[in-house]
Amino acid sequence: MNLPTAPSADGVWLHLRPVPELTVVDAPCAPDEPACVVVQGGMVRWVGPVRALPPACAAIPRHDARGALATPGLVDCHTHLVYGGQRANEFAMRLAGATYEEVAKAGGGIVSSVKATREASEDELFALAAPRLQALLDEGVCAIEIKSGYGLALPHERKQLRVARRLGEALGVTVRTTFLGAHAFPPEYAGRSQAYTDLVCHEMLPALAAEGLVDAVDVFCERIAFTLAETEQVFQAAQKLGIPVKLHAEQLSDMGGAALAARYGALSCDHIEHLSADGLAAMKAAGTVAVLLPGAYYTLRDTHLPPITQLREAGVPMAVSTDHNPGTSPALSLLLMANMACTLFRLTVPEALAGITTHAARALGLQDSHGLIASGRPANFVLWPLREAAELAYWFGHKPACTIVRQGRIHGVLP
Ligand code: NIG
Ligand code: FE
Repeated sequence: MNLPTAPSADGVWLHLRPVPELTVVDAPCAPDEPACVVVQGGMVRWVGPVRALPPACAAIPRHDARGALATPGLVDCHTHLVYGGQRANEFAMRLAGATYEEVAKAGGGIVSSVKATREASEDELFALAAPRLQALLDEGVCAIEIKSGYGLALPHERKQLRVARRLGEALGVTVRTTFLGAHAFPPEYAGRSQAYTDLVCHEMLPALAAEGLVDAVDVFCERIAFTLAETEQVFQAAQKLGIPVKLHAEQLSDMGGAALAARYGALSCDHIEHLSADGLAAMKAAGTVAVLLPGAYYTLRDTHLPPITQLREAGVPMAVSTDHNPGTSPALSLLLMANMACTLFRLTVPEALAGITTHAARALGLQDSHGLIASGRPANFVLWPLREAAELAYWFGHKPACTIVRQGRIHGVLP
């Protein structure tokens, strides 16, 4: 697949208004002062007020941002973007009163997506996932995590992860892959959970890691999925290979998963509606990011809120993500998730914006390259036709006509 042939963003981007909390300037910039960002070789080289632009930049091309609001490229740190089929039937079942657990027990849920994913070829999965990814990119996403977990057998997990890598190359976006072989038990292992956990730990993970397909390892630790002991076995296998871990933790019940994940230095614990005080303290001590997924909370009509006040008071970084998946969060707008994080979870606007940028980058181990406008980083930023940063979380069902500089190339509407 060819790299995108979008125009280069090299040059001086003049007259923009970067969100101060999401920007590191190289020279002091007053709040209302027009700023500029210098891009060279696809990297941000200087950020500061137009009046202090280094003389060496005088001769390079100019792009007029016409006073646009500027944020770092958005980061979607938790998605299950690659799968076959869809599950609108479960939407109807839930509307008729069935719970997520009841749907799963009735043979729906993750296992029904496994069937459709196994039946699809690699090219078919790519063709299905590419427009989903494009929708997220069009809204300013510049880095994304994509999990496996709908294959649940080596060739099919490989197929999903290979599609994730191909998507990053074809669409020119940073993709972090996560192996989620421990998402559910495949039908052929019904009643043999230890045998499947062994397969995940001793065959699937080592093989896929050797192929360079695994940036992180995740587990769904839940009553309807993997126990705490099984989760720890997967974490041990990841640790042996030096691969960072993360966890679908305490979504439907408090399993003690967050504290376990923190002991393994997890990048993030995700969902965490039922997070305990001990789990929270362990995350704080380990520097683990809390990934909030309001799309799944909303779809499942959950009423048990994650402990936002306690996370805030403890200073645990909170990220916000789509959790795009065909069952519990068929969402393709990260800005909508920011809106829902404010409305449903009571995040402040600055928290929601950090949640889809800096903290999301941290949840992927990308804190040194993504999630901030700062020199020395690859050029990933978005120019928004908006007056105030709060508008990013305020509007919903609205795709602002933004200009996106992604991997040093210009996408979207030209300024
Ligand atoms: O993040 N909680 C488990 N995994 C997904 C749902 C997957 C599915 O239902 O297909 C989630 O919500
Ligand atoms: Fe998920």
